[in-house]
Amino acid sequence: MSELPQIIAGNWKMNMTLTQGRKFIDTLASGLVGKKLARKLLLAPNFTLLSGLVQGCADIGIGLLAQNCAFQDAGAFTGETSVAMLKDVGVGYVLVGHSERRQLFGESDDLLRRKAQAVSGGGLVPIFCVGETLDQRQGGEAFEIVTKQLRSGLDGFPGEKLIIAYEPVWAIGTGQTATAEDARSMHVHIRKFLEVQFPWGEMVPILYGGSAKPENATELLAQPEVNGLLVGGASLDPESFLQIALA
Ligand code: 13P
Repeated sequence: MSELPQIIAGNWKMNMTLTQGRKFIDTLASGLVGKKLARKLLLAPNFTLLSGLVQGCADIGIGLLAQNCAFQDAGAFTGETSVAMLKDVGVGYVLVGHSERRQLFGESDDLLRRKAQAVSGGGLVPIFCVGETLDQRQGGEAFEIVTKQLRSGLDGFPGEKLIIAYEPVWAIGTGQTATAEDARSMHVHIRKFLEVQFPWGEMVPILYGGSAKPENATELLAQPEVNGLLVGGASLDPESFLQIALA
């Protein structure tokens, strides 16, 4: 689906203060002056930075992505953040099911389905993350695992606006990137699932994530099945984020 505009999303995870975030946006803004950017940029700062960065991001055309949300609308859920709260500060997209949420915080397929539905129902776009572990890949289960994550997470999905991120767990933060062929073949698999599942399945951008960096971005983005990148570590430096955006 090379005709889908590519997306480069930076996931800052639990990094950056507001001061650092503002400096990042200023540097990125200077770097973008005079450049013609064909790709859509998104940034996922921590919750505490969202309202402080929304204007700076809007000024240079970057969309705001939240790293997580609650599925409940409101109420006695200490420490949680609703979709309406995120929308209110100018967030347009929400990560759902990042492998760190699945693995470190025990988020289940059922919970993630509810979150994806809450995000979509609240008028925002979920970036639904899927990906297999090293054991699962070595055991030949990668495709089956990703299908299972998609099937359970997207069951009854109410909207038509959705982004998928394929992030093989073994490639996240390890410096070990999936080969362009690994990424391509999984993206083809995901596309088939989406096309069978949804009449609008061909319109869903599928991003690759896992040690994406300036050195491998060009090759990954050259795959017609790769509609963009979800970048962790390399998105913390405005220079490398810019290089990926322009790769
Ligand atoms: P790294 O790019 O640091 O491997 O992280 C990928 C990721 O988890 C993005 O969400």
